[in-house]
Amino acid sequence: MSERTPSGIEGLDELMGGGFPQGKNIIISGVPGSGKTTFGIEFLYKGATEYDDPGVFITLEESPESIMDNMMKIGMNLQNLISKRKILLIDTNPIRGETMITTTGQPTGFTEFKAYGLSEIIRQKVREIGAKRVVIDPLTALLMHYKDDFERRLEIARLLIGISNLNCTTLLTTEHRLYELSRQFSVEHSIADGVIILDMLRVSGGIIRGIQIQKIRGAKHDFDFHLYHITDKGIVVFPKEKIHAPIKGES
Ligand SMILES: Nc1ncnc2c1ncn2[C@@H]1O[C@H](COP(=O)(O)OP(=O)(O)OP(=O)(O)O)[C@@H](O)[C@H]1O
Ligand SMILES: [Mg+2]
Repeated sequence: MSERTPSGIEGLDELMGGGFPQGKNIIISGVPGSGKTTFGIEFLYKGATEYDDPGVFITLEESPESIMDNMMKIGMNLQNLISKRKILLIDTNPIRGETMITTTGQPTGFTEFKAYGLSEIIRQKVREIGAKRVVIDPLTALLMHYKDDFERRLEIARLLIGISNLNCTTLLTTEHRLYELSRQFSVEHSIADGVIILDMLRVSGGIIRGIQIQKIRGAKHDFDFHLYHITDKGIVVFPKEKIHAPIKGES
């Protein structure tokens, strides 16, 4: 079996043979507020504190200050790990404009925001601290220029090829807007080595959070929806609690 990188998310690793396949790229796809950023940060936080894996977090949307504040509230002191250079939190939001990304990796205008430049920044930051884990949150922000699937596919391929020989286990978050099984799958799900879905599911008692491992190439894994909570101590998955996700139209 291939080497594994434990996610560190309580209850999740036992559903996928101990963790993510080391060095592969995994999409974390969720509805707004489903915990994508929390998942990504916890992956790096646990990596740094429990597995001695340095990590790079690329934020394309939420500000580093906001991420640090929110994560502190659920017990993750990022400042401490950043000052020890166990985690780098890199702001590449094109509107805040500190690190706009171009085909050359040099700052310029919004429309020049490209995957090649982003992969250059990631390569540089990974080398800086010898990172073993990378999170890009959200990948959706990089793809919003492209309505066409072919161009989206090319752009993701450029990014993944650009970072492929770093040997980092990489999480890329994406947003989906439709719930449950009515959701259409986007091109990024086809390209990635693995896909994890974070959803809000309608059940008879109301709405609950459900997590599903949709695919991990080359690995045996669970594929049911399982209950998860976001708690004061981070994300908790309940591996023994399967959820019956109603199909569209089912009451
Ligand atoms: N202490 C807490 N206890 C329980 N739930 C919490 C706690 N803190 C945050 N949450 C939940 O986590 C959600 C936000 O998580 P996060 O920012 O990781 O989601 P996201 O999927 O990245 O959201 P977005 O789509 O806005 O980027 C909140 O909407 C809230 O429901
Ligand atoms: Mg987020």
